[in-house]
Amino acid sequence: MEIKKAVIPVAGMGTRFLPATKSMPKEMLPVIDKPVIHYVVEEAIASGIDDIIFITGRSKRSIEDYFDDSPELESHLRQKNSDKLLKMVQDISSMVDIHYIRQKEPRGLGDAILTAKKHINDEPFAVLLGDDIIVNKTPCTKQLIDNFQKYGRSTIAVEEVPPEKTGNYGIIQGKPMDESLYILEDIIEKPDPKEAPSNIGAIGRYVFTPEILDCIKQTTAGVGNEIQLTDGIRLLNKEQKIYAYRFTGKRYDTGDKVEYVKAIIDFALGNEETKKEIMEHIKDIGL
Ligand code: UTP
Repeated sequence: MEIKKAVIPVAGMGTRFLPATKSMPKEMLPVIDKPVIHYVVEEAIASGIDDIIFITGRSKRSIEDYFDDSPELESHLRQKNSDKLLKMVQDISSMVDIHYIRQKEPRGLGDAILTAKKHINDEPFAVLLGDDIIVNKTPCTKQLIDNFQKYGRSTIAVEEVPPEKTGNYGIIQGKPMDESLYILEDIIEKPDPKEAPSNIGAIGRYVFTPEILDCIKQTTAGVGNEIQLTDGIRLLNKEQKIYAYRFTGKRYDTGDKVEYVKAIIDFALGNEETKKEIMEHIKDIGL
């Protein structure tokens, strides 16, 4: 079965990025000249998604505005004969079908995904967290979709994380099938390094069978008093096999300050327009 729908939750508070996120969504922070969320939507489209559901919240209006038409800006660019910029702006508003659902309060990632239930309509779907940028020729979401198509079961993207940082991730216990695939045995939300079953952590990409939604519905608030997606995954795992896929690619959690700066440096060095001067600057400051 094809996967055409993706849920992109962007309703979190972004407390790690305060004060910037006091009045702007962290997903709108720019990496060079595009906001983080633009890269995430590009990944979804390149993976074959044609219907995106954003889970938004208060103070996230600028995300809707970004993907909407901008009549005033377009007419200004037309008057200035800036055809290239005009096309760039118009292309953004016609990238893909986007629907918006409000999560009334940020009650956790599980709760955010559950708000999309009516729109999902009993189909398998992808989830992309709006603050993770993943760079690879074959997009990470496509890698998960390929595994879903092979086995017909939910697949979550994982990567090795520093052992001392298990407390930032859902950490899996899995039975290896080959070098990149595990059958999920358990997943623990943000375990202390001493209690973590491994150092393989779930990152912000998933493909789910629709049954995940009923499983999330059955859960109650867990770690951090939030409805945790991890708890829903644990319940689903009792009914259906779930795969954990060690994806290929470089991931940046742009909701974290250091990772955000690393993303900017790497993207600036990979961009012909900025590369030379940034290299010179790095030399100048003696790095
Ligand atoms: P995070 O935990 O990274 O986001 O959630 P956060 O809560 O905004 O960040 P900090 O820790 O306070 O800095 C991962 C993703 O889930 C979304 C977030 O927007 C982010 O994309 N999310 C989280 C929701 O949509 N709703 C929630 O209730 C919680």
